[in-house]
Amino acid sequence: MLAAYAVTADADAPLNALRVGQIEPPPVPAGWVEVEVRAASLNHHDLFSLRGIGLAEDRLPMILGCDAAGVTAEGREVVVYAVINEPGFTGNDETYDPRRSLLSELYPGTLAEVVRVPAENIVAKPAELTFGEAACLPTAWLTAYRALFTSAALRPGDTVLIQGAGGGFATAAMVIGRAAGLRVWVTSRDHRRAERAVWLGAHQGFEQGARLPERVDAVLDSVGAATWSHSVNSLKPGGRLVTVGTTSGAEPRSAELTKIFFKPLHVVGSTMGTRAEFARLLQFLVSTGVRPVIDRTIPLADAADGFAAMIGGELFGKVVLEPGR
Ligand SMILES: NC(=O)c1ccc[n+]([C@@H]2O[C@H](COP(=O)([O-])OP(=O)(O)OC[C@H]3O[C@@H](n4cnc5c(N)ncnc54)[C@H](OP(=O)(O)O)[C@@H]3O)[C@@H](O)[C@H]2O)c1
Repeated sequence: MLAAYAVTADADAPLNALRVGQIEPPPVPAGWVEVEVRAASLNHHDLFSLRGIGLAEDRLPMILGCDAAGVTAEGREVVVYAVINEPGFTGNDETYDPRRSLLSELYPGTLAEVVRVPAENIVAKPAELTFGEAACLPTAWLTAYRALFTSAALRPGDTVLIQGAGGGFATAAMVIGRAAGLRVWVTSRDHRRAERAVWLGAHQGFEQGARLPERVDAVLDSVGAATWSHSVNSLKPGGRLVTVGTTSGAEPRSAELTKIFFKPLHVVGSTMGTRAEFARLLQFLVSTGVRPVIDRTIPLADAADGFAAMIGGELFGKVVLEPGR
């Protein structure tokens, strides 16, 4: 089948590690359900995999991709929940399973004509969403939903600062946050992206690192090292810093420990979301009419172009790949 997969790791030139072509469907545990992929979407996670981060060499070649929507053999329209728990995990928060993985880490991912997942990982696709829209939700949008409402515990009327306006996570958080009655501020390295964020629904856009008009209730930070100090400095006493990613690196110049204890702040790690949160996210989109921000929709065969745009920092929203085009 046609798929986009990693054949090696290349930290500096990740496109060298990518192949888009025919590959034999790799084996998966017995009983998993086959989904014919109608649309998949890219995440920074896929780029990390090509760079060798989080994907062990003995797992190669590995079909990339965490997110997809498609059709089962019985004709059910479904969206894939991307957190794969260790068999026997019994906790009620799937993200607390220390042995969990995302599709494309241990098992073949979604950038393919067909993906196989545990039966409990398929969720009915609301008829109101297209396959392309649904395919944007399992990683970036679910992470944004949990970060806003569970990890930052934000309520209507609160102010949230979202670092790095252009990413899939950041655009999700700004659109969901606005629809949920938050005051949404964003930062970007590029004033055009900050303006576009405002056009999309953020109340105000700022240059990365800029002094804000007032301190905020929570910061969602997926950028990491480059924005950490600004995130700490932007919070009110008692505010929440939700860290979900390290696109610019995981080692900030200062950990800002003194400010964190003195203000005092809550620093909360957040990753993906539960299946129950995913169901609520789908309902939230249906109820509010909010839809994912899609930068471009391209054939799966052109996946390398989507990765190149992500590497070049050109994106505003998600890249959707369609195997059938
Ligand atoms: N914890 C989880 O479960 C989870 C889920 C989804 C994503 N993530 C993580 O969240 C991060 C965001 O992923 P994504 O796919 O949404 O977007 P992304 O492509 O990683 O980009 C995020 C944004 O960060 C800013 N940025 C990028 N490089 C930067 C640098 N060197 N210095 C300063 N700012 C920089 C850019 O915003 P501007 O150009 O507008 O400044 C960019 O649009 C990734 O690290 C990803 O692994 C984690």
